[in-house]
Amino acid sequence: MLIALAVSGRGVVDPDEPVVFADDEGFLRGRAAFETTRVYGGRPFRMDEHLERFANSAARLNLPPVDRALFHGLTAEALAAASEPDCFVRLYLTPGREGGDEPVSLVLVESLPPELEETRARGIRVISLPFGLETSLLGGVKSTSYALNMVAVDEAKRLGGDDAVFLGPEGVVLEGPTTNIWWRSGDVLYTPALELGILQGVTRGALIELAVDLGYEVEVGVYPLSALAEAEEAFTSSAVREVMPVVALDGRPVGDGAPGRAARGLQEALRRCASAG
Ligand SMILES: Cc1ncc(COP(=O)(O)O)c(C=O)c1O
Repeated sequence: MLIALAVSGRGVVDPDEPVVFADDEGFLRGRAAFETTRVYGGRPFRMDEHLERFANSAARLNLPPVDRALFHGLTAEALAAASEPDCFVRLYLTPGREGGDEPVSLVLVESLPPELEETRARGIRVISLPFGLETSLLGGVKSTSYALNMVAVDEAKRLGGDDAVFLGPEGVVLEGPTTNIWWRSGDVLYTPALELGILQGVTRGALIELAVDLGYEVEVGVYPLSALAEAEEAFTSSAVREVMPVVALDGRPVGDGAPGRAARGLQEALRRCASAG
């Protein structure tokens, strides 16, 4: 739920107020960049990394450059207005109105989904779906053209799952519609390589560091779906849902069908790291 909103040129506005015109190219064509970052104790997690990825997405979409100072300011104002220390923020940059040259920068503060911890304790079921990411000009870009990602989640639900995992040509594992995917065999953690055109998750980057501290080896590569299906446990990573155990793939249990030890350990480590600042 949207709890606060800040907009370039205006600052904090009522979240129920319209702030984007009907002929904004972000709306008309889905050409806009965005970022989502979780806020712990009033502080956005790894904001500079999110702004770096945001700037790259904007450049790849041929948008005007991201004004980092503006986004820092709008985020601070919106978080102060929200007065909710544990939440998440979404940053948006649109090119603005068709034929105009006034980009629109938006910061949305949202409350966390209430069912998150219950879902983490239970784990999620994922369904594999084909997706041709690496042939795309926009592989790895966080643009608002997420219709396919959202419809993939609907399709996974229709097939009895909670979320999807995308497969590239020849069935290689890519990522979820809004997450990166991981699995474990023994003390080795596996996650697909960025060269596949997947998003460079900020949470993925944090977990690669934290996993090593917990004694896991991390292997990044190109893997078939069978590697995930035969793993001892699996999980997804993302800013809002953090480390989410995956307990079933295509209707069959992953490992013993329960959340695993790496997911638990990494979730705890991520929280420790986030609260340390
Ligand atoms: C396609 C895709 N992959 C992975 C992720 C995870 O990235 P992060 O950990 O930065 O949230 C996201 C989240 O936004 C995403 O949209």
